[in-house]
Amino acid sequence: MSTEINAVREMLQSVEKVAVFTGAGMSAESGIPTFRGDGGLWRGRKPEEWATPEAFMQSPEEVREFYQWRRGIVEEAQPHAGHLALGNWSSGDSHHVEVVTQNVDGLHQRSGCSRVWELHGSLWSQHCHDCGTPESDLEKTHCPCGGRLRPSVVWFGEGLPSEVWAESERVMRESELVLVIGTSAVVYPAAGLVGMAAGAGIPVVEINPQPALDSQTVCITGTAAQVIPILLE
Ligand code: APR
Repeated sequence: MSTEINAVREMLQSVEKVAVFTGAGMSAESGIPTFRGDGGLWRGRKPEEWATPEAFMQSPEEVREFYQWRRGIVEEAQPHAGHLALGNWSSGDSHHVEVVTQNVDGLHQRSGCSRVWELHGSLWSQHCHDCGTPESDLEKTHCPCGGRLRPSVVWFGEGLPSEVWAESERVMRESELVLVIGTSAVVYPAAGLVGMAAGAGIPVVEINPQPALDSQTVCITGTAAQVIPILLE
């Protein structure tokens, strides 16, 4: 692992713009379960069973309760050493760092990253399923129009927020190096951003204890909390 870490540290020295693309594995060591792989079930169910507009239409209370449960886990969780090292590095002067994340937990922002694009929305906001009006009070269940409030996360079968998508494409396209951390890269279109960068000849560095990409330039086989602090120190 140290050979790869040294190689990536050298690569970082010759670039300025870095895109960091993260998935659920980034938050695993903060105690937030991933979607796939070991421990990848959410309360005994696959994420696809909860995270769809159909599940919400059929059992809105159950889906709402599921998201309250997830918010509870995230509220208890603390950013780990990898989050903090990334937050610290991204707010320094050495590089221009933007984070494109599939995570909805807000841990990058809590650990000091200021340029974060949330491809799959956020657990910390909701909007009306009928009229789309945002509602900041997470305790509320209904919109003034009578429609049900839902978490502003992207469910299976739904499109990604267009502005976030456009900005994420820009971040990847303009970057000189992409760090891909903790994603199985199987959920599209998000995962396609990594292939797009690789296809454009941008070096891609994967950090994952069980590497998943086939387009990476360098792979560091290790966890986010182990690798990132050493890589960015
Ligand atoms: N550090 C780094 N990577 C890790 C760690 C860790 N400590 N633990 C697990 N991983 C890796 C796994 O090896 C796996 O490759 O994180 C990845 C997690 O994969 P998924 O659970 O599929 O998460 P993700 O890629 O973010 O899923 C994409 O699927 O259901 C949707 O919308 C949801 O955004 C999510 C999307």
